[in-house]
Formats: sequence, structure tokens, C-alpha cells
Amino acid sequence: MPGNGMPRSVRITGWGMYAPERVLTNADLERVVDTSDEWIVSRTGILERRIAAPHETTATLSAIAGKRAIAVAGLEPDDIDVILVATLTPDYWMPSTGALVKEAIGNTRAAAMDVMAACSGFVYAYSVADAYIRSGMFKNALVIGAETLSRFLDYSDRGTCILFGDGAGAVVLSASDQEGGGLQGLEMTTDPDGAYMIWLPSGGSRSPASGQTLARGEHYVRMEGKETYRYATKTMATTALKAIERAGWQPAEIDLFIPHQANLRIIESVAKGLGLPMEKMFVNLDRYGNTSAASVPIALAEAVDSGRIKIGDKVVLVAFGAGLTSGGIAMEWTADPLCGQRAASVEPVASVREPSDWSSVDSIPDRLREILEAGPPVPLDDVVPGEPEHAHRNEVLA
Ligand code: ACO
Repeated sequence: MPGNGMPRSVRITGWGMYAPERVLTNADLERVVDTSDEWIVSRTGILERRIAAPHETTATLSAIAGKRAIAVAGLEPDDIDVILVATLTPDYWMPSTGALVKEAIGNTRAAAMDVMAACSGFVYAYSVADAYIRSGMFKNALVIGAETLSRFLDYSDRGTCILFGDGAGAVVLSASDQEGGGLQGLEMTTDPDGAYMIWLPSGGSRSPASGQTLARGEHYVRMEGKETYRYATKTMATTALKAIERAGWQPAEIDLFIPHQANLRIIESVAKGLGLPMEKMFVNLDRYGNTSAASVPIALAEAVDSGRIKIGDKVVLVAFGAGLTSGGIAMEWTADPLCGQRAASVEPVASVREPSDWSSVDSIPDRLREILEAGPPVPLDDVVPGEPEHAHRNEVLA
């Protein structure tokens, strides 16, 4: 480091992700809401999403992704000075999910907190960690984006339940005494004009949880899909462009974009807005849906591990979300992608401290549990002539 403890650069040294095993397909959703695989695929590009098991929470998903990122960085858990968890689906309102993650990854010395900026949360948290390290305050930060959105969705609302999934992604940011690399350009916006385009009405100080709020389903995500879509298509490209300009680059120089995985049509419009081919856009929403704050770090980890990013590449992370918020980071990649193989040493298990004198009710919303328990639908080809077709649909709700 230079003499005053300030690093010459701040670089990603570790990355990792975790997606729960259980897959929820479009066919599963066809059985509970008036939708179709064809509609979902053509309007969103999503084929399936992952759903956290009953024992999993945002903290457990975070801890697995976080431990993988630390292993990839070649660090020990106690090398981490600060933990930031970006999420809109924390385990509790308090303590922070970060506090639970700290213990679950085996760290005894870090400061830990949550960052709330919805789907832009990971980009916001990254910028905070980068600034801490750049200032000389910390050397290593663990930045996680994690969600268990399935616990906050109304599985009778076809406008939202088809879009979202669960998962976690993480990076380790570290101080470096080498020049260059890491974040070169940053743009973040917050536009409260759209504050209620995506929101969760109850459980906060404006409308504390009560029997009434529960009966009104106000503990579930609500969204104006069309308006959000309009905002996203307008904002993602301009946010990315600002970050790229701040880095002193041109869009055509960017090797790979890691956009928030909300909707394939939104990603296509970002590519069009920047005058770039879709090959420069990383897409994995077909397999995970929209995992909100987890979407960018999951995509980043998969992009590196699948060989889409190499040392020296110019990479742009760009997201938008409730708030309405947007965030873009233009960065230069410096880590050896092969280090990603170290993540394999981390088992997909995490143990988070439980309260001693309290146990929660069932963590999975009733309607979702019924879909999961029904199992996969029987192919209609197997219908015996004369037998009613619905007998083969495993319909879970009247
Ligand atoms: N299946 C079948 N039909 C549906 C479904 C569904 N799942 N959902 C809506 N429809 C119907 C509508 O009722 C409407 O019918 P109508 O014409 O008879 O009224 C028709 O399909 C068209 O509906 P639109 O809302 O116009 O459909 P659109 O093409 O806009 O697609 C979608 C909807 C996919 C939600 C899109 O607007 C979108 O992706 N918006 C952005 C959402 C988003 O990214 N949110 C995440 C924000 S990030 C965060 O912070 C959480």
C-alpha cells in the first residue's frame, strides 16, 4: 500500500453464488394462476426459478455464497473486515441479516450490516464497500446480494409470482497495491416518483403488521408491471452509459454487460439503447428469474466461471429496482477466472444462529407449499382416452 494506508486500487478477488435446489417451472405456475408457459417465456424469457427450502433463509443463502467468494479469494473468514448484505427480504427487521451471516461464515471481527436498494442493492453495496476500502478504512469486504422472494409473493397474483426467484451471489473486494483495475465509473440514481410502483405495503411503521393487513395480503410484493417496465427500459441504458462515460470508455469497448435479470425484453432494449449486440449481454434469467439484489452477483459469478470474462476485460454491472433506484458500475476485471474452482470446496450448507425461546410458523406460504408438494405435472400425452384431462394436471387449487 502507499504510505498512508490508502490502496492503489480496489479489486474483486473472490466471487461465488448459491441457488436453492428446488426448481419451480412455468408448468408448476400454470397450475395455480391463469398463465401459460408460452406467455411467460414470450413476455419475460423466464423458464424456471429456484425456491428456498423451508430450512433456508436469506442469511443461509448469503452465507453459502459468501463462503464461496472468500474461498475463491484465497482468504480466511476472519480476513474480512466488513460484511454488506444487499436484500429486500431479510430474515428479520432486526437483527440485520449481515449480523447473522457474520457468524454463519465463521467471522469474529467484521462489522456487518444490510443495504436496502431493492434490485439495485448489490450495486449500491458494492459502491459502499469500494469507498470504505479506497479510503483506507478496510482491506477486505464481503458484498452479498441475497433474496428469498418466494416468502413475499402472492402465488395468486400472476403479475408478480411468475417473475421472481430465490438465490444469493457474493464478491470479495480487496485493497491492492497495484494500479488500475476494479471500479472505474459509477452511477446511481433514486427516483421517488415511482416509489409505489414496486412495494410491500405492510410491516413497516406506516402500516404495522396486523390481522387486517394480513387479511388484505399487504405483506406481499405489489407491482405496476407496465410502469416498471417503462422505467427500466429508459433507465438501465442511461445508467450504464453514465458509468461507462465516467470510466472514460465508449460502450463499444465493453466486453460484457451483466444486467439485472428482470426480463429478457428489458435486456434486449438496453442492448439496443447502447447500440450493442445481445452477445455482449450476459443472460441467465431463463434459469433463475428475477432474484432482485442477488441477480447481478449470481450472473457475475456464472459469467466468470463460464469463461465469459477474462483478465483485462471491461465489464459493466447495471441494475434497476424499487425506489425507484438504478445503479451502474464500469469495471476492469483483474482476477484469474480459474480461482473460481476453489468454490467447489464449500458445501452448500450453512448454519445460522436460531433464537432460543421462539420458533417461527411454517416459513413457506401456504399456496406455494401446495405447488411444491404437488410434484411435477403428468404429461398430457399420458392421458388415457376418455379420462378427464384435469385428472392429469395435479391441480392444487380449485
Ligand atoms: N400470464 C398471462 N397473462 C398475464 C400475466 C401472466 N402471468 N400477467 C399479466 N397478464 C395479462 C394482463 O392481465 C394483460 O391482459 P389484458 O390485456 O387482458 O389486460 C396482458 O397479459 C398484458 O399485460 P401487460 O402487463 O401489458 O404485460 P407486459 O407485456 O407488460 O408484461 C410484465 C408484464 C412481464 C410484468 C412486464 O411488464 C415486466 O416485466 N415489467 C417489469 C417488471 C420488473 O422487472 N419488476 C422487477 C423490478 S425489480 C425490483 O426492485 C423488485
